[in-house]
Amino acid sequence: MSSVAVIGSQWGDEGKGKIVDWLSSRADVVVRFQGGHNAGHTLVIDGKEYKLNLLPSGIVRKNKLSIIGNGVVVSPTALLKEIKAVKEKGVEVSPENLLLSESANLILSVHIALDEAMEIARGGNPIGTTKRGIGPCYEDKIARRGVRVCDLRHPDVLREKLESMMRHHNILLKAYGLDAVSPDKVYDELMALAPDLLSYAGVAWLKLDEAKTEGKKILFEGAQGTMLDIDHGTYPFVTSSNTVAASASSGTGMGVNAVKYVLGITKAYTTRVGTGPFPTELNDETGEFLGQKGKEFGTVTGRKRRCGWFDAVLVRQAVKLSGMQGIALTKLDVLDGLDEIKICVGYELDGKRLDYYPPSQVDQARVKPVYEAVEGWKESTYGARTWAALPAQAIKYVRYIEELIEAPVSMLSTSPERDDTILVRDPFLD
Ligand code: IMP
Repeated sequence: MSSVAVIGSQWGDEGKGKIVDWLSSRADVVVRFQGGHNAGHTLVIDGKEYKLNLLPSGIVRKNKLSIIGNGVVVSPTALLKEIKAVKEKGVEVSPENLLLSESANLILSVHIALDEAMEIARGGNPIGTTKRGIGPCYEDKIARRGVRVCDLRHPDVLREKLESMMRHHNILLKAYGLDAVSPDKVYDELMALAPDLLSYAGVAWLKLDEAKTEGKKILFEGAQGTMLDIDHGTYPFVTSSNTVAASASSGTGMGVNAVKYVLGITKAYTTRVGTGPFPTELNDETGEFLGQKGKEFGTVTGRKRRCGWFDAVLVRQAVKLSGMQGIALTKLDVLDGLDEIKICVGYELDGKRLDYYPPSQVDQARVKPVYEAVEGWKESTYGARTWAALPAQAIKYVRYIEELIEAPVSMLSTSPERDDTILVRDPFLD
């Protein structure tokens, strides 16, 4: 079996869409294992654009099985809407090519109301969530009061669960000055969608085990990025799931040895949406330049992304946290034309040098980046497909990044076009 996990190595938005698309064309099975419809991947295939939030990227290709694993939180409304939208573009979606884990937890309307209410309650210190109910749904999952896909098969149990869940949440909603949610209303909403949703439902780990036995190529499609991981990210300014590679195992029910190659998707500079620390953030002309040239606006919320220099300390940390064997470096072309490029090679905290990002939110906000400046290049790297087509300084930048992060570049992406990629090593060939 050959299998690859694609993991974001910064704060998400590293350009996973294009790389995942390239890899999914080679895979037999594409599986999502964490997050929900807070993710956003834009794929362009044969001139047609597809915006995916929850569906695995394999869905737009023929003869691929797409799986939504148990670790994903699923909004039934969002999923069915997305299925409808891709079907309208001529994509076939059926139980033959889409499998939804029966064990996945469902995002209900109450979770969205709570996500919004909790952000308001955080006052001047919001997380800047996508307001899609992700956090509250994972909270219910961990608190063991969540509703799962398989519960839709048992209306009586579902009703009981909703009554118990709303008893809990309505106290909170009342305290926030919001209307109580009627369990009957949620029950009716869910039962109306149940037949459609259940038509895709099944035991995902069994199907994956079968695929493994048959030697199929499996692509584990990560969402968000390492610094948004609930354990290893910039807590509390994180998402509510584990985004590191280990989650590919727990979020699908495959053993930890199922992933043969971990590919870290890494942007040639750094961006972040939402609030939280960001040591190399540039609140100046250069930051503006990167944002404009890199079209750094969120695909899910449309928010302007914060931009800054490449932070080699953060990415090295991500490489180690996920055991990344190589990276796909994206958006190198955005740096074209800069006289000088800075790379963060360490931090300074209270006069001491650090070569890792400290866990405390206080220290994370206080560290000062230590930069090394490298000479930029004037030539365009846009669309380069060979190393020979790259200016010497650009190659030097890439080589220096490899050295600093202690991982090789397996793929180098030089434009949003699929073929504008320099392939050093096919991650599926191990
Ligand atoms: P949540 O996942 O909606 O709870 O949001 C928590 C944090 O993760 C916020 O800072 C979001 O902006 C960020 N976030 C969630 N999903 C993504 C993503 O797909 N890309 C980048 N940031 C994300």
